[in-house]
Amino acid sequence: MRCVVTGAAGFIGSSLSERLLRDGHEVVGIDSFVPYYPRPFKESNLAGLLGRPGFRFVAADLRTDSVVSHVMEAEAVFHLAAMPGLVRSWTDFDLYASCNLTATERLLNAVREAGQLRKFIYASTSSVYGKYASGDETLPTRPCSPYGVTKLAGELLCRGMAEERGLPLVVLRFFSVYGPRQRPDMAYHRFIDAMLSGQPITVFGDGHQVRGNTYIDDCLDAIIASLEAPVGEIYNLGGGETASMLEILSRLGDIVGAKPVLRFERAREGDQRLTGADTTKLKRHLGWQPRVGLDEGLKRQVDWHHLRQVRAAA
Ligand SMILES: NC(=O)c1ccc[n+]([C@@H]2O[C@H](COP(=O)([O-])OP(=O)(O)OC[C@H]3O[C@@H](n4cnc5c(N)ncnc54)[C@H](O)[C@@H]3O)[C@@H](O)[C@H]2O)c1
Repeated sequence: MRCVVTGAAGFIGSSLSERLLRDGHEVVGIDSFVPYYPRPFKESNLAGLLGRPGFRFVAADLRTDSVVSHVMEAEAVFHLAAMPGLVRSWTDFDLYASCNLTATERLLNAVREAGQLRKFIYASTSSVYGKYASGDETLPTRPCSPYGVTKLAGELLCRGMAEERGLPLVVLRFFSVYGPRQRPDMAYHRFIDAMLSGQPITVFGDGHQVRGNTYIDDCLDAIIASLEAPVGEIYNLGGGETASMLEILSRLGDIVGAKPVLRFERAREGDQRLTGADTTKLKRHLGWQPRVGLDEGLKRQVDWHHLRQVRAAA
């Protein structure tokens, strides 16, 4: 299948592009290297993709560059490009509004030219539910951060295009994805790097906030499975094993063999208190279920951090 992955230099987009290639698909990867975390990090995500048969990278900003010629042959579009993370969304709203909404609108207009499009998968987030994101897809959407608001607005725009213009839309709402290549601003990445270098760890809030952890490979399995989903559906995508930040820190401490030194700071505005996906629908419709348990997933992420350190030192 001819696929387009937006956000292809990011954590999930680069991993998805690799999976699609491995499964025999062709991939056009689009990314503009938004400097929200360092470009070399994203370049190393892409390193295993560039030059591979079946993969073509397009450095383009969806907000301003036309991508019509790159998407018109697509049979599947996976729209992962976005400004993620909630912290900066309070102070840099224009960046979030433009990357999460304007960019989506421009992409949606570009894919109107894609005559053979079978699926448009929109990567949404548990943040659309707000502070208590625990349950199935019928939970009311009450985002409590500009990030969540702009991601929900992008989702609604896709829905509008689906209803009015027949966009073959499927929405996946991701719940805290972790594993190799996790973004450096995300908690587990920060925790592991700090433990490996003996630094104190900043915990925002009381550490009892709970996350519905999704290992990257399980996330990719669900994204691929969603190609077979009925058009118009929304699915929660979460790993099934919830844990508080303090539990995660303790498990990571055991894996790394370190006793973390914690510094507590005030909870950040818009932080979610509880996330936990009820994925009954994903299982019922697509037969998906998570396969990687939390301890195993965390261990694989720690191994990846070790490897990065070794490579950086070489
Ligand atoms: N990682 C998670 O736990 C998580 C949870 C919920 C939802 N999501 C969603 O999944 C998607 C991928 O997240 P990620 O963690 O891989 O983030 P990421 O930041 O690693 O990847 C996103 C990529 O999109 C690119 N991008 C942003 N704006 C762009 C634009 N205007 N034009 C072209 N490229 C642009 C960035 O440069 C980046 O490489 C996002 O849509 C995010 O909202 C992620």
